[in-house]
Amino acid sequence: MSSIPSEHNQPEAWIKTKDSELYINPLPVRIWHWLNALGFVTLILTGTHIRYAHLFNLMTFETAVKTHNWVAFAVIANYFVWLGFYIFSDRITNYHPELNVKKFFDNAFKQMMYYGYGIFRGEKSPHKVVPHDKFNPMQSITYQIIMLLVVPIQFATGLMMWDVKRFEGVIALLGGVEVVNTVHVLIYIFFVSFTMIHAYMGALGHTPATHFREMFTGYEEEH
Ligand code: HEM
Repeated sequence: MSSIPSEHNQPEAWIKTKDSELYINPLPVRIWHWLNALGFVTLILTGTHIRYAHLFNLMTFETAVKTHNWVAFAVIANYFVWLGFYIFSDRITNYHPELNVKKFFDNAFKQMMYYGYGIFRGEKSPHKVVPHDKFNPMQSITYQIIMLLVVPIQFATGLMMWDVKRFEGVIALLGGVEVVNTVHVLIYIFFVSFTMIHAYMGALGHTPATHFREMFTGYEEEH
């Protein structure tokens, strides 16, 4: 622990440093993240097998369905680790939306210019990472939508198809099992792309391994 560098403009109790690195990702977030990543990759592989069974022969259809269901329940339980951590800790500020629309778009534009141009010229990211405001505007809006909307919808549609009989009332209300299945598959396609883009963006740190290491240790170097 060391004293707070004034430029961070955050309460001192929130700042923890080691070898001039800032503590950004607490243990529950790191455990949630890597279990979640493993779970999503497994769900994508088994889901692909279920949806396009005629194209693959990696496992039996039955194994794919069983694995998909078990892993899905583990991923749902793990989601509540993430949600519980943020709800009950002061780090929820990371997920607060920017309510000043002009400020949000100005900052998002600067961030886009950085990703599209500045990063190739070795410029610094316009967003300063601090423990309670760690996401740049683009990460912020993406993670809010994914974690609070897209992921819960995927869980709900998956649950409905896991036990169609039990949820027949809701399924009928939503327009039938085909509608529920289509939403689930569209979100699956979204997650295939997201996971690839997200992993690629994760490699855009100081060195390709920087952000990955940070998501394991919790400490981030000054960018
Ligand atoms: C191969 C898989 C994955 C890799 C290599 C990876 C990598 C990373 C890295 C390096 C970070 C830290 C940088 C940042 O904050 O953006 C991160 C954060 C994050 N990732 Fe991933 N990720 C993977 C899969 C996923 C999946 C499938 C999701 C989907 C739900 C996801 C959601 C998130 C979220 C929400 C954060 C911010 C976590 C927080 O601090 O609250 N990641 N990821």
